[in-house]
Amino acid sequence: MTELDLPAVERLLHTREIGRRITYLATTASTMDVARDEAVAAAPHGAVVFAEEQTAGRGRFGRRWVSPAGKNLYLTLILRPDVGRLRALSMVVPLAVCRAVEAVTPLRPVIKWPNDVLVGGRKLAGVLIEGESSGAELLYALAGIGLNVNDPVDDPEIAGIATSLSRELGEETPRETVLAALLNELEDAYSAPPGDLYSAWRSRIATLGQPVRLTFRDEVYEGTAEDVDDEGSLILRLTDGTSRPSRPARSPSAVSRRSEACR
Ligand code: BTN
Repeated sequence: MTELDLPAVERLLHTREIGRRITYLATTASTMDVARDEAVAAAPHGAVVFAEEQTAGRGRFGRRWVSPAGKNLYLTLILRPDVGRLRALSMVVPLAVCRAVEAVTPLRPVIKWPNDVLVGGRKLAGVLIEGESSGAELLYALAGIGLNVNDPVDDPEIAGIATSLSRELGEETPRETVLAALLNELEDAYSAPPGDLYSAWRSRIATLGQPVRLTFRDEVYEGTAEDVDDEGSLILRLTDGTSRPSRPARSPSAVSRRSEACR
């Protein structure tokens, strides 16, 4: 396995905060758990936890995120936004993933609402956003990103639905280049004016006009994806002709409210 060359990543970074501290792990269960511990221990805004391999990588709705060693990017970014900016992360992160891929390859990824990044109809990257609040205060947010870079994607569990940069391009891309581009784009998108962020995110949504089926709590809604609003909600035109905004669903544990200080 070729380990990530962290100094090479640092040389390519032009950020002020994002990725200025990177915890590098050869293997871990999930970078989300390590990042949570680091956030509780006062890690600064923009700190990153990166792993070569995850033994219990997880996605939205508790799904497994296949995380073989040394091929892809598995990272969690620790952010300390105002509570009002938490929802914007659902736009910031997939947009930054798309722009990073566009910056280092000829590929043109699209977003499947709310925050999957697809190429050729297959999933290239997934985003998992979690937050921890105390009363009205957001203590921290975690943005987990899994981006398939040089993975042949031959795991039978995902071969039919996932892709990687190398599978699309027919050649490998240095992970350092992709990671640095991603961190640079994350900082740019995070600090973009809300209107610019929304229009750039909206222009990449491939879901619009498509039939969709959404599960919200115990209810299932079917209809057509009519639009997305500037808070990241999908406007669903139901089969009875009415419209309904639908917020990006979070996994049950995603945003928990604590009355006590953080763990
Ligand atoms: C999804 O598409 O359901 C989200 C996938 C998120 C995967 C990343 S990999 C790095 C971080 N650690 C995890 O356990 N999950 C996220």
